[in-house]
Amino acid sequence: MSSVMEKDGFTLVKKGRKHKRKYKPIPADISAQELDELEIKKFLENFTHCLIEMEQSELLHFIKSKYEKNDVEMIEKIECLGLGSITNNKQARSQLALLVQLKLFFNCPVLAYDPIFTEADKIVLSEFNILVDEENTEGMKETTGKTLFFMPHCSKPLVNNILYSNWSRKLLGNVQIFGNSFENMIVRHTFQDMEKYAGYVLLSQKFVKEISIPNNIIIDNVFNDTSLHYFDNIDKLNVSFSKAIQPIYDNDELDFIKK
Ligand SMILES: C[S@@+](CC[C@H](N)C(=O)[O-])C[C@H]1O[C@@H](n2cnc3c(N)ncnc32)[C@H](O)[C@@H]1O
Repeated sequence: MSSVMEKDGFTLVKKGRKHKRKYKPIPADISAQELDELEIKKFLENFTHCLIEMEQSELLHFIKSKYEKNDVEMIEKIECLGLGSITNNKQARSQLALLVQLKLFFNCPVLAYDPIFTEADKIVLSEFNILVDEENTEGMKETTGKTLFFMPHCSKPLVNNILYSNWSRKLLGNVQIFGNSFENMIVRHTFQDMEKYAGYVLLSQKFVKEISIPNNIIIDNVFNDTSLHYFDNIDKLNVSFSKAIQPIYDNDELDFIKK
């Protein structure tokens, strides 16, 4: 017999071969804090398996090899945006497993922010020494050193704001983005949409370097359409960085929560 905590606060009890569903109500007097503790305990038990799987994955080896062979410069910190709720979302869970493995590989600090993080999510993140940012910067993040922005499947404005905030010869070389493929984004969206939501992605297309994650090594369909983007030899580029204009977005872009 096995049991699983459901979103509605009930415990799903699976019994025997027929998997008959029986709901066992959680006692009414259980506090929110105790419920969080149960959720966290359950999460951490299952997550160990996820971490081991990721440690042995081709995906992790592929990413690590790009740094070990010096194709991409090593980084000093990771900023994670839009991970999603790790205690409620399977995809976010796999992404956290990769994030934790990358933290170990780079031996660097990690800062994470998503407006939908629950208290339970924040406690889980702190278990892995991941600092939770409390401020919605909307991705307006000027780098102070080589930074990997870890943001699989995040919305265009979030990516665009990171580029805008670092749009200078001095800072752009610090930026690496692990997220939706710029190349695919440009192919799949109209020029008007790209100008509106991702103008800096468009501007970077002539010189951004992109390493796509091969489809045969993605896990659980979580890292589809994902690439590692970076900028090198910025000093030698014949590009003007002087007129960066702050982007303003309508309220209609999905998955982008403003301040
Ligand atoms: C499409 S979901 C991606 C979730 C997860 N990474 C995945 O691949 O399933 C976009 C995420 O961005 C988050 N998000 C929206 N606005 C944000 C902001 N201003 N800063 C950080 N994250 C934000 C949302 O809460 C959501 O979790």
